Amino acid sequence: MSLKLLLLISLLLQCVTSSMVEVEEAYLKWVKQIGSFNHSLFQKPTNKFDPCLTIQVSKNPRLLGAFTSIQKAVDSIPLVNECRVVISLSAGIYREKVEIPKTMAYITLEGDSVENTIIEWDDTADRLGQSGKPLGTFGSATFAVNSPYFIAKNVTFKNRAPSPPSGALGKQAVALRISADTAAFISCNFIGTQDTLYDHIGRHYFENCYIEGSVDFIFGNGLSLYRDCHLHATSNKCGALTAQKRENMLQETGFSFVNSKVTGSGALYLGRAWGTFSRVVFAYTYMDNIINPRGWYDWGDKNRDMTVFYGQYKCMGPGAEYGGRVSWSRELTPQEAQPFITLDFINGYEWLPNL
Ligand SMILES: *[C@@H]1O[C@H](CO)[C@@H](O)[C@H](O)[C@H]1NC(C)=O
Ligand SMILES: *[C@@H]1O[C@H](CO)[C@@H](O)[C@H](O)[C@H]1NC(C)=O
Repeated sequence: MSLKLLLLISLLLQCVTSSMVEVEEAYLKWVKQIGSFNHSLFQKPTNKFDPCLTIQVSKNPRLLGAFTSIQKAVDSIPLVNECRVVISLSAGIYREKVEIPKTMAYITLEGDSVENTIIEWDDTADRLGQSGKPLGTFGSATFAVNSPYFIAKNVTFKNRAPSPPSGALGKQAVALRISADTAAFISCNFIGTQDTLYDHIGRHYFENCYIEGSVDFIFGNGLSLYRDCHLHATSNKCGALTAQKRENMLQETGFSFVNSKVTGSGALYLGRAWGTFSRVVFAYTYMDNIINPRGWYDWGDKNRDMTVFYGQYKCMGPGAEYGGRVSWSRELTPQEAQPFITLDFINGYEWLPNL
């Protein structure tokens, strides 16, 4: 806290006393500091890929040896799990909430096909849970992962809560929440409106995924790489694609979107600064004509203009135009973009399955 304050004060002092060139230089140095990475905060990963068990789940009650509920299949796995278990889902619509406990590592969820393998529920943050208290955004998730080394392939995660009227409170409705390190989502769909994908904590990889929502539809404090993904906005007024929650300079988190595309309806902010040091980069990404020209919103807190790290790198399409962007976002240089655009961003070479 005091370090942040000191840096801010020194930057402010510099702004008052130096020429524009020096201010620019100080800003670039600041950007470099904020945009740099030191992954020493994460543990060294030790993933396991060879399955020791495959469990079948099917909506067909006559299929011998198969569970009809995903949660029941999860509950059959040792609570402290030490080898990879594949949960194989037959095509079908699974209407249930699912939660994977913290100690149940190495779970793979494999759908028959992404279009026909759907897990859905419709909780919102203001709905009362079993304790009689509101579920909150955290508890609204249709599918919640609390354990490391999770993999999902070809599954649609959905929250079916209807799109809330503008300004309504308590209508956050999460489709998937990932609250653990080293998770990979390959060819998955995430469907919801407000707060679809809670990218909460840890290093995550999303490849060839479709993510749909209206406001803050990818949000949280994860360190995540989204590659070849399709981000689709359904906001009828003002929406926001991301709300990244990095809270201080020492947190190694941020979202990076590479080789992706943004479509739908707008006007859409690329991001809102949920955390003071929010960090988001879009690289080589196509943006349709639905992006608010300002691009980013500081959540009404001017101080965040100095601490967020928001950048684009070689994006294309009518929404990628840099002309109207807020002065505190940047078209990155190759050097600034470098830490964000490869698997190294999430130490992917150390823990991702062979893709
Ligand atoms: C990363 O952080 C560790 C521990 O805080 C420190 O010892 C190391 O020098 C740092 N590395 C870089 C490249 O900043
Ligand atoms: C997803 O399913 C399709 C068939 O629908 C298959 O071709 C593809 O390999 C699967 N993807 C993954 C990552 O398993």
